[in-house]
Amino acid sequence: MAIVVSTNFEPAMNQYETLQAMGEQAYARSAALGGTNAPDAFRVVDIGAGRGAAEYSPVFADLATHYVGVDLDDDILNNPWVDEQVHSSAEDFARSHQRAVADGTAEPFDLATAIYVWEHHREPVKLLRAIHAVLGDDGQAILITPNGLHPFGLASKALAKLDLTDAVLRRLRPDEIDDYHFHVEATRNTIWGVRKCAGEAGFAGVDIDLHDDPGVFQPYLPERWRGLPVAYSKAIAATRLRALSGTLIITLQKGESSSAGWRKPTIQL
Ligand SMILES: C[S@@+](CC[C@H](N)C(=O)[O-])C[C@H]1O[C@@H](n2cnc3c(N)ncnc32)[C@H](O)[C@@H]1O
Repeated sequence: MAIVVSTNFEPAMNQYETLQAMGEQAYARSAALGGTNAPDAFRVVDIGAGRGAAEYSPVFADLATHYVGVDLDDDILNNPWVDEQVHSSAEDFARSHQRAVADGTAEPFDLATAIYVWEHHREPVKLLRAIHAVLGDDGQAILITPNGLHPFGLASKALAKLDLTDAVLRRLRPDEIDDYHFHVEATRNTIWGVRKCAGEAGFAGVDIDLHDDPGVFQPYLPERWRGLPVAYSKAIAATRLRALSGTLIITLQKGESSSAGWRKPTIQL
């Protein structure tokens, strides 16, 4: 399997801008496969879509000819951006979607997204298998998850193991805990974990973008500590310890043909 790890420390580029660029790239690729400027159909499914997010959902709603949101939480029923709200786990959705494709009542998806879902799943390979199952042969997936090797990732895993996440979040972000918080598992969310899980789930290509945007972590810290993520980001950029970056932006290609040369590698691991 071709594993390409690219890095991105562009200060002007936040994770959602990268996600948007990747979505547009997937759209252009779908069009090129059909030999046109715009694909006849660009079917997108957002796994773990929740209520959607203004930072990315409108972009995919615009690109997609059909946009489906799937989530086991009933937040999905308040997602205004998707054409279809499916209140289900990714795994159950994959099973019913496969049956529908087999009997000709549904089409496979061209693109799946799972934004900040991996770290909430106890068995990420099952999540990836579900994503693999709903994609067409040329399909791609884009996932974002915190890196388990970053201090934030390490702390959230430790807190989850000690069952202290809720107590700590209640102190740091009291508004978030009651409104929008999901249990954290933080399993295998490292470069090496992602590579292994993607292979086990049957993907042919994996590409990981390493981001370190201090703004992602600053809201979790008291005011006087907010310089720490900035110093950390500068330190890993300077020392090239990029495997310790804050965020993994993962693209997965289902088929061999789709994995060839669509991203520029910066480092090979
Ligand atoms: C942190 S939220 C992210 C929501 C949205 N993607 C966003 O970025 O705002 C994680 C979501 O993943 C969903 N989730 C976790 N495991 C899931 C599974 N197995 N199937 C479907 N959804 C799942 C949760 O219910 C929750 O809505």
